[in-house]
Amino acid sequence: MKHILLFILPILIIVAIVFTIFGIFQIRFEEEKFMDDLKRKAKTVAESIELSVRHTFIDNDLKSANRLVESFQKRERLQGCAIYNKDGQILAITERISDWKQKDKPYLNDIFSAKSPRGALEKFKEYSVYSYILPVLDDENNILGLVEVIYDTSYMFTMLTELWRRISIALIVLISLITVIAFLIQRQIFILPIRRLTEWFKYFQKGDIDKLRPFEEKGELGKLISEVEQVALGLRVARKVVTEEAYVRVQKEEIWTQAKLRDLIHAKLGENAFLVVSNREPYMHVIDEITGMFKCIRPASGVVTAIDPILRVCGGTWIAHGSGDADKKFVNSKNKLGVPPEDNRYILKRVWLSKEEEEGYYYGFSNEGLWPLCHVTHTRPIFRETDWQMYKKVNLKFAESILEELPSKNPFIFIQDYHFTLLSKMIKEKRPDATIALFWHIPWPNPEVFAICPYQQEILEGMLACDLIGFHVQFHCNNFLDTVNRLIECRVDTEKFSVIRLNKETSVRTFPISVNGYINSDITNVQEAQLDKIRKELKLEDKIIALGVDRIDYTKGIIERMLAIDRFLEKYPEYKNKFVFIQLAAPSRTHIKRYRELMGEIDELVENKNWKHSEGSWRPIIYLKRHFSPEEIKPYYKLADICIVSSLHDGMNLVAKEYVSSKDDLNGVLVLSRFTGASRELTDAIQINPYSIEEFADSIKFAIEMPPQEKRKRMESMRRIVSENNVYRWAGNIITELTSLKKN
Ligand code: F6P
Repeated sequence: MKHILLFILPILIIVAIVFTIFGIFQIRFEEEKFMDDLKRKAKTVAESIELSVRHTFIDNDLKSANRLVESFQKRERLQGCAIYNKDGQILAITERISDWKQKDKPYLNDIFSAKSPRGALEKFKEYSVYSYILPVLDDENNILGLVEVIYDTSYMFTMLTELWRRISIALIVLISLITVIAFLIQRQIFILPIRRLTEWFKYFQKGDIDKLRPFEEKGELGKLISEVEQVALGLRVARKVVTEEAYVRVQKEEIWTQAKLRDLIHAKLGENAFLVVSNREPYMHVIDEITGMFKCIRPASGVVTAIDPILRVCGGTWIAHGSGDADKKFVNSKNKLGVPPEDNRYILKRVWLSKEEEEGYYYGFSNEGLWPLCHVTHTRPIFRETDWQMYKKVNLKFAESILEELPSKNPFIFIQDYHFTLLSKMIKEKRPDATIALFWHIPWPNPEVFAICPYQQEILEGMLACDLIGFHVQFHCNNFLDTVNRLIECRVDTEKFSVIRLNKETSVRTFPISVNGYINSDITNVQEAQLDKIRKELKLEDKIIALGVDRIDYTKGIIERMLAIDRFLEKYPEYKNKFVFIQLAAPSRTHIKRYRELMGEIDELVENKNWKHSEGSWRPIIYLKRHFSPEEIKPYYKLADICIVSSLHDGMNLVAKEYVSSKDDLNGVLVLSRFTGASRELTDAIQINPYSIEEFADSIKFAIEMPPQEKRKRMESMRRIVSENNVYRWAGNIITELTSLKKN
């Protein structure tokens, strides 16, 4: 509408100006014509009565003068006649203008002296009148008296006003007609074709080729549409060719690489885009607290570490909560942006949540309820009804956002984690043709533990709407199958590892997540200069360096790690001044009381232990509490002789795998909690029970003193595992499994 107005407004302004000018001229013309008529009429009437009046003056016949003036009484409108003697006094006057007598008439003297007629507009009461005065002369040219004829002119103004009214009405009608016609033309020429083109693009985007109709538009727009059609056709054909070529290559290649995954996705998903959903977004725009400038950060998250490389390779769309304080500044009209920001490889669609939604769904139900419930690390889960309601609301909000993005046929959706247990049921209600996988990145507890959740029924029902549910380790799969078997009405097929409920089958499988492996990885690409800088800054020269990299979370066993280092230095004081432990700690979920308390506990512990063991400028623990980007973490991995992962319970733990990946010189030892998913694969790590501080302390010593040969052998074996079971394999297996479940 705004555009139409912009288009027709200049036309309307021109029409209005032309009409107004025309009106002014027309009125002037009518006015002049009317006055000319009036003057002529007044003059004719005055002259016609002059003769009779002359006799009146000569015979002094007042009666006939009165008769004469009274004949005007019967005429239409206000008209009248007055007869003056040669002294300028009124002898006779038409009754209806008798008040005219009182009017001061200074002009009479001029008429007497000039002996010539006078016509002029005068005011009479509220009227405007035209007065024409004709001197009556005898044969010697002496003035006998005057005849005055008076005409009311106010009806002329009424007539002119009426004329203005008609011109205005004509103008309004014309403007309305022009507006309607312009709107219809614009709609016909621009809006309808553009609307058709937009519709067509939507179908094209969603891969709904059956609905694509050729365009028959002519003219310039037709040419544009025709060009667009050609590009689209080219794209479609190219996609098909890529899909077929990819299929052939996937069958040939053995090792999982970026290229193999790309080919698999093209071969299996074809023209359908890969759609990933998670709570945490892979790129977050925030305002830097120090500089006040916008910056883009990569959040500390296993999900981000694993899935970002996949989407970088395969493209697609990732839908996540836009939680950065500057996120809104970087999205387009559909809340989307290309990421990574410096080299757009896929689309990130941000979903906005209010503070109340974030509080109830994310902090409350997900992280004070489900997180401790599933991790079983002796932090009591809290289930609040208000949080649950918000969790449902946010799941619905995400479902709506996802539904907008789905292609029209057979979409594939890959949901991440415990934040979205209800999502797949909500999507399936609208799109039963969708194939949905849910990957559970955290542990799944046994049925007794899960049974304390007041919303167990709805959660399990929601999850069982998925076609595929993935866990990192078999133990969690088994726990899940036991849980559904015990808590919900369904049939568990132990042969096929699936759950059947209401005629719907959900496969449950193990897919150990990973990192991109050292093949094709840039993690090893760290400059010596960077390492030197850190060595100098942190006084690490000649020190044995141990490293921890974690979000500050009670499941990560950071407290236990500090206690173990304390015990290690107590038991083996010969390592004082020789050993340094660096903890990179990203503050996390700080809005939750338990997390704030934990930060305080760690601060205190670090302070105490450093004070207890310090010698000179040496401190055993370097605690760096801030967000570190993946690029910033890389040199620490390179520097670390030992990496300590001491989670009390962890679905997988990708820090362990990243460390192994980065150790291309094979010179490093991994100390790994046996309660992580990673411990199942990385059996060459020194496995610990983080609750056993003695064992933990001894393991640190064991790691330090391990012969170089042994270190190399263990690291080599772990690197082979990580490079083979890399994240491309993880995604490839999930997609292969998912597409094999696809209903036709
Ligand atoms: O790996 C489990 C997980 O909850 C991920 O889903 C998440 O990205 C990560 O931990 C970090 O947690 P958060 O996103 O709550 O900061």
